[in-house]
Amino acid sequence: AEGSAAAAPSLGFSAIPTSAADAVIVPDGYRVQAMLPMGTPISGAMPAYSLSASGEDQAHQVGSHHDGMHFFPLQGSSRDGLLVMNHEYIEPRFLHAAAAGLALDRSGFPQNEDGSRDDDQVLKELNAHGVTVVRVRADDQGQWQVVEDAHNRRITGLTPMRLAGPVAGTEHVVTKYSPDGSMTRGTLNNCAHGVTPWNTYLAAEENWAGYFANSDAELDRRQARYGIETRDSGRYQWHRAAGGADEYVRFDASARGASASEDYRNEPHAFGWMVEIDPMDPASTPIKRTHLGRFAHEGVIFAPAVEGQPVVAYSGDDARFEYIYKFVSARPFEAATADGSLLDEGTLYVARFNDDGSGEWLALVPGENGLTPENGFADLADILVNTRSAADHAGATKMDRPEWGAVDPITGQVYFTLTNNTQREENQTDAVNPRADNTFGQIVRWQEEGSHAGTRFAWDLFVLAGDQDDSRDLTGEPLDQDAIFASPDGLWIDPDRRVWIQTDISESVMNSGIYEVFGNNQMLAANPETGEIKRFLTGPVGQEITGVITTPDQRTMFVNVQHPGATTEAEAFAAGNLISHWPDGGSAIPRSATLVITREDGGIIGA
Ligand code: FEO
Ligand code: CA
Ligand code: CA
Ligand code: CA
Repeated sequence: AEGSAAAAPSLGFSAIPTSAADAVIVPDGYRVQAMLPMGTPISGAMPAYSLSASGEDQAHQVGSHHDGMHFFPLQGSSRDGLLVMNHEYIEPRFLHAAAAGLALDRSGFPQNEDGSRDDDQVLKELNAHGVTVVRVRADDQGQWQVVEDAHNRRITGLTPMRLAGPVAGTEHVVTKYSPDGSMTRGTLNNCAHGVTPWNTYLAAEENWAGYFANSDAELDRRQARYGIETRDSGRYQWHRAAGGADEYVRFDASARGASASEDYRNEPHAFGWMVEIDPMDPASTPIKRTHLGRFAHEGVIFAPAVEGQPVVAYSGDDARFEYIYKFVSARPFEAATADGSLLDEGTLYVARFNDDGSGEWLALVPGENGLTPENGFADLADILVNTRSAADHAGATKMDRPEWGAVDPITGQVYFTLTNNTQREENQTDAVNPRADNTFGQIVRWQEEGSHAGTRFAWDLFVLAGDQDDSRDLTGEPLDQDAIFASPDGLWIDPDRRVWIQTDISESVMNSGIYEVFGNNQMLAANPETGEIKRFLTGPVGQEITGVITTPDQRTMFVNVQHPGATTEAEAFAAGNLISHWPDGGSAIPRSATLVITREDGGIIGA
């Protein structure tokens, strides 16, 4: 009801058609520049991008697989600021010169004859993960450039990090590296992000489980419930680095020492968190905030902070049949003193969506919702390390892969993308996850009762994504040709309330079968009042579009292009047929990069 009183945003651009071209296409009257491709030097001796760059070079270069990002203006500028972005993962064959000529598929990695891995390749892979903080500035021609600056920094899979909140210092995170359980090394698979009300950046740890191996006979739920497997099936195999260095061997979480402080059996328990980074302080140690829960964190979105009220943050667990969570701080927000310690005390809730359009938040707190020692939950730290198991026990609603969230700045409605879930069976559908074999995904939204800190809400489906035969917009009509899309993932609501939707159709099915009609992954804009949706951007071959933010004046938009060319088959790769050469063109290896989008008339993006 509150929503209908709010002004609707304009969508004044001409929608563009779908595209299967190896190019970025934007509407008439818009311009696009690609910058910060993987390997761009930002710090140290500014090592130039090269296929033979070393692992150490990579620690001074932009990482790979650009994802969530934010623009932190310097002195409020819309032409000069710190771009902070996540690097979700890597493709070894595009990272290593040695991989050229080998018939590797997209998950393949080079290895030595004895099955070990080259140390410098492992170092380069760890350093291509994490987060980039880089100062960027528009020149007189409006072209954005890297500025060498003391803020520029790479945070990687090796950066020392502090643990904070209820799990810090507990037996769950005791390792040889940190016998008191206060520290860990690195962050991995940083998908989306969040920006706190005190202007720091949170990087999510999503599919971290895939980096670990464990050959113990049996795994407990702290690892098994998150998909760590007992066999050496992982893609990266960092623990097999030839030199046997401790920082690589730790990815084998098998129990080998006499106790947890002599090995890395607990190493995976230091992953699956949200990591706070202060981009304004280049000497700061990143902090894993454990009260926000441990799962495959897609990202986090904060409700607008209100003086004297709790801080509230929403986060999705992107896996089939997982959940949507929210954290409510114990202490109130006070702008003058607010900092990350607000995230260390509070209540983590998980969502239940009822079929009648109501919903409730179930507290994951000792003694509530059956979370007792008798039921296997010893204390708050045990609940948080085992967030998924606690949510199972509380009876939350199993969702179709929750990805990004966004909060309408005027109405306070919370939106979440549910990207797809092809494993949902007919007898598992419900009102919020209404389709069996859900190949196209949907976007849910809700309004909290009272305030964001409340425990009840009312929800509806904003859109059922899909083709013209299997989709439904807010008015109940199928999506038209300018609006069809599948697998919504990235989501952002700009200050004028435009709902920006980014798609991630898996590269394994993109442009084929039922997905052919959608073309390459893309970005659309929606009107939250009318439900109108218009296609704004299409990306090159084999990529996903993810990450979006504008400058404060909304006249420059940054968008990330992740994993162009990922559809290249192993034989084609060996033969040098890479399918995509974006953004460099010619015969170049494709690289993730950041788009800078402006209007020829200098206007607001999307208006
Ligand atoms: Fe990293 Fe769920 O996308
Ligand atoms: Ca994503
Ligand atoms: Ca993806
Ligand atoms: Ca995705």
